[in-house]
Amino acid sequence: MQKLIISLLLMSVIAVACQKGDHTKTSQKDSAVDTKVEALISKMTLIEKIGQLNQYSSRWEMTGPAPESVDSMSLYNMVKEGKVGSMLNITGAVATRKIQTWAVDSSRLGIPLILAYDVIHGYETMFPIPLAEAASWEPELAKKSSRIAAIEASAVGLHWTFAPMVDIARDARWGRFMEGAGEDPYLGAKMAYARVKGFQGDDLSDETTIAACAKHFAAYGFIESGRDYNVVQISDPTLHNIVFPPFKACVDAGVATFMNAFNTINETPATASSYLQRDILKGEWGFDGFVVSDWNSIGELLPHGVAADKMEAAFKAITAGSDMDMEGNAYINNLEELVNEGKVDEALIDDAVRRILKIKFKLGLFDDPYKYCNPEREKSVMRCDEHLAAAKEAAKRSIVLLKNDNKLLPLKKDGLKIAVIGELAGSKDVPLGSWRAKAITNSAVSLLEGMKNTTGSSVIEFVKGPAYTEGLRSFTTELKINTTDKSGMGAAKLLAAKSDVVVIALGEDCWQTGEGRSQTDISMKGFQQELLEEVYKVNKNVVVVLMNGRPIEINWMAENVPAIVECWHLGSEAGIGIAEVLFGDYNPAGKLPVSFPRAVGQQPLYYNHFNTGRPTNGEGNVFWSHYTDESKTPLFPFGYGLSYTSFSYSDLKLSSNELSSGDKILVKASVTNTGDVAGEEIVQLYIRDLVGSISRPVKELKGFEKIRLEPKETKVVTFEITTKDLEFYGASGKWTAEPGEFNLWVGPNSAEGMEANFVLK
Ligand code: NOJ
Repeated sequence: MQKLIISLLLMSVIAVACQKGDHTKTSQKDSAVDTKVEALISKMTLIEKIGQLNQYSSRWEMTGPAPESVDSMSLYNMVKEGKVGSMLNITGAVATRKIQTWAVDSSRLGIPLILAYDVIHGYETMFPIPLAEAASWEPELAKKSSRIAAIEASAVGLHWTFAPMVDIARDARWGRFMEGAGEDPYLGAKMAYARVKGFQGDDLSDETTIAACAKHFAAYGFIESGRDYNVVQISDPTLHNIVFPPFKACVDAGVATFMNAFNTINETPATASSYLQRDILKGEWGFDGFVVSDWNSIGELLPHGVAADKMEAAFKAITAGSDMDMEGNAYINNLEELVNEGKVDEALIDDAVRRILKIKFKLGLFDDPYKYCNPEREKSVMRCDEHLAAAKEAAKRSIVLLKNDNKLLPLKKDGLKIAVIGELAGSKDVPLGSWRAKAITNSAVSLLEGMKNTTGSSVIEFVKGPAYTEGLRSFTTELKINTTDKSGMGAAKLLAAKSDVVVIALGEDCWQTGEGRSQTDISMKGFQQELLEEVYKVNKNVVVVLMNGRPIEINWMAENVPAIVECWHLGSEAGIGIAEVLFGDYNPAGKLPVSFPRAVGQQPLYYNHFNTGRPTNGEGNVFWSHYTDESKTPLFPFGYGLSYTSFSYSDLKLSSNELSSGDKILVKASVTNTGDVAGEEIVQLYIRDLVGSISRPVKELKGFEKIRLEPKETKVVTFEITTKDLEFYGASGKWTAEPGEFNLWVGPNSAEGMEANFVLK
């Protein structure tokens, strides 16, 4: 009886998912694919179907802990037996062809493997880390860099990237901040959409496009206390209003796959969540691609304490809608028995196989399983001039000028004695960033090289200062920061004292960020703060070049040094991009995609927070929402960034102060370049819903436009507000725009702007 009930339940789960998915019109091409998929499924044995749901990493490159010992030999035999549907971490056209041959020539049905890799911000040509690229507020830039990453990755026989990572992040302690587009769902959704389009193009079967993967579904960026792999407690409205929008944007862009997440959400692991994977993703959103688990996240249902063994874990994951098992060994070892015993309906397996095969067909793998493995193309596209030029463009456009007192920047190319100080300034590796795919170690243009290349007669001298790190630097090892050996401090001071200006590179090694790199302390580590203060004592003309993958604490710096340039980890051409900004060949125009805190204790810190019942200290006592030892505001707000010119905002006009359902308001604002050089400005539109059925954020980004203005030029920027823009997911469990009063701002960042209001009728 129990079996029957489970079986009926499962069938209804699929039926509902399919029914909801029916809303999407299938093109003729899709229906031809469907026919082929059904024909193939009808020939498959149960274990061959389960094999398609099984994914392993190559043993020579592991991007997670090996959950069970599967040696290379047994793994490759499994491929030959058709018990593996996908592999990750196999790279190089020769290697991918070889493994594909085993699947195609040796397995009974010759179903090709889908080969995946973490191509996050480039394959060999490195682009800025995604957090940096979001600072450009240019989705087209992200589309282009993803396109180039796909061109390089596809040439080596890869079909699938585990990107974009679209997790909204609010806690700088989390090392994976660098992988996403920051804290805002609106900006995040725009970047997510663009990245999917960049990777996938318009036709997955094109040999230069690859399938994208929206990850990590969902709420991984909300892990408690910023500690990686930790749990998530989140309200339903926050899940829908803040976390989901970038994922939904990926579905709208036609993303082929999703990856679920390691974390629990309100006590249920995402991997075992039917609500996320079946109700929302495959149901409400009609997603017809497949969901891959994160690395052994099915196996991790055991330590999460929701499965007693792998059998139960497999049952929960497949029931919840996780289609492919990455490195968990749970499906291949248990699903057959679960089906044979009637605990899992074979229709569930068929649904997952159908989704996976469909993507393989769409990629064209059945027409030519080797078409992506192309050694000639591999040789010609990697780090080619065109790709490096795009990386340089992306680097400079991702830079944010945080401070520039007395117009210290740009620097003159001639006649200056410039001291370049700090290990990061000389590093050809740190700018490549974390999650760097096949970047060649030490292949970036360092800041020092970039400056030497760009300057005229100005003399540039370099001193490293105290070493920043010791020992091995790599993706898998914990970084060791030097805290004992101060040698180099004196030389740095001497150089600073005899120079006209000091450019000092500070921040984070790239291996301080990325997966498994959470920190309780986000201030500068090692001797960096001391080095900065010592240098500043002998020369006040200090320009700090920040290299970092998360917001860091820079209070002293922000108060004292005249110029700060946020340069993140900018990729292969970092040094050239930064030098163009420092010497004024390019006028910086990026804006922060994340709030910069004053102290780690403010985390999580984000601009679209709620007001609380006691937002201000009207009475002058302690009984209001604040800290007694630090301001509660950010040091630099979301959306903030300066330019070598200045902009003034005027003439905010609304086409009406009333909005009726189905109608729109046009918002116009004039922006003038009031300085003497041309520049770009990112004009931002925010709203606030003053009274709702549930509390609403104090500000929400609803539009932005990047414009270029010649000196003294004025442009009118027009935004459109519709009822749709005012909708939110509320206590009723529905998206609604509630009538009432709204504030609106148009300005240069989330803390400033011209204000108006309107009423939604
Ligand atoms: C675990 C990470 O969470 C995920 O983002 C990545 O794609 C996989 N490992 C594969 O490397």
